[in-house]
Amino acid sequence: MEKETRIQNGNVIRKSSDSGPDLKTGEPGCGIPDTVRENRIGRIGDLEPENPFFLAPMAGISDAPMRRICRQMGASLVYTEMISAKGLYYGDKKTDRLLWSYDEEKPTAIQIFGHEPDIIAYAAEKLNDRGHAILDINMGCPVPKIVKNGDGSALMKKPELVEQIIRAAVTASDRPVTAKIRAGFDENSRNAVEVALAVESGGASAVAVHGRTREQFYSGQADWSVIADVKKAVKIPVIGNGDVVDPASAIRLMTESGCDFVMVGRAVRGNPWIFRDLRYCWEGLKAPPRPGTDDKKEMMKRQFNELIALKGEYAAVREMRKIAGWYLHGVPGGARKRAVINTITDPQCMFEAINNVWSSVRGI
Ligand SMILES: Cc1cc2nc3c(=O)[nH]c(=O)nc-3n(C[C@H](O)[C@H](O)[C@H](O)COP(=O)(O)O)c2cc1C
Repeated sequence: MEKETRIQNGNVIRKSSDSGPDLKTGEPGCGIPDTVRENRIGRIGDLEPENPFFLAPMAGISDAPMRRICRQMGASLVYTEMISAKGLYYGDKKTDRLLWSYDEEKPTAIQIFGHEPDIIAYAAEKLNDRGHAILDINMGCPVPKIVKNGDGSALMKKPELVEQIIRAAVTASDRPVTAKIRAGFDENSRNAVEVALAVESGGASAVAVHGRTREQFYSGQADWSVIADVKKAVKIPVIGNGDVVDPASAIRLMTESGCDFVMVGRAVRGNPWIFRDLRYCWEGLKAPPRPGTDDKKEMMKRQFNELIALKGEYAAVREMRKIAGWYLHGVPGGARKRAVINTITDPQCMFEAINNVWSSVRGI
């Protein structure tokens, strides 16, 4: 039964008496603080996403099947895996394959990495006919091979170059340009504000901030105060990122940092339903039921089928081993089931294993 309905900024906010216990602000099924809705910037350039929740760019994770699933669940914008600007320049086939996307996943943000303004400009122009909504520049990748080349988070050390790169991309791209940065390169140079200001000066339409330094990779806790500092310093919208795992943490990040949008990364592994939870929370709806074993089984089969169609059986089986590991994390007997799945080489055996692994699991 409905307890309360009100219209706010065009949103219907409902509090339902059967939405479980009296939930605290930010938990699924509850309202969202008025300040979060009222103070946020709701658009990036000409794009007005239908809610504040985005799928983060993740190499090896945010491929086309994952992006389409997350869009269908409720993510309002999905980022591609990072794509080499140099690879686009040299017409590398593997790079081109990363650009493939489904119509249903749009709006999509294509993320490129590189450090040479002219190569970035070439890539930006080449991408103009891909039908993406946003062009994003990676300034946060911590992987040694990337950093050694001066790409990714190496750019955190060069705010002047950051501005030149963004300006080159903005000039060449017919889409809004954004950048994804980190808190800094290391503990001694937490310069996210300086870099975000350079991103803004270059003409970007938004900046995404992951609250960790390059030195931290993905360890420790993301520092959301750096996202708050960036939000205070720039006028463009800020996308907060790091350690969002459910609606409660998403709303906490928005409340504490004042960020306009939230990017969700690792929490989507084995749980694309997170975007449904976030969307329901944003729309003020009662939290939906948790996905059951059948939902998980069907989602795994769907991902496997889509991987086969996209990448062929050989690659799909190998990727599915990794994906199965995500879904089986925390499941009773999961380690044993994962070990079995890791030996599979045949697609039919993989389908059978997906059916079997859930047969003995109850009540998750
Ligand atoms: C396996 C993996 C791959 C990633 N690949 C990218 C990438 O291609 N581009 C990027 O900007 N960030 C990448 N990231 C970082 C995420 O976008 C995100 O900033 C980070 O995981 C923190 O957010 P989370 O706590 O929600 O996971 C990657 C992270 C992981 C774990």
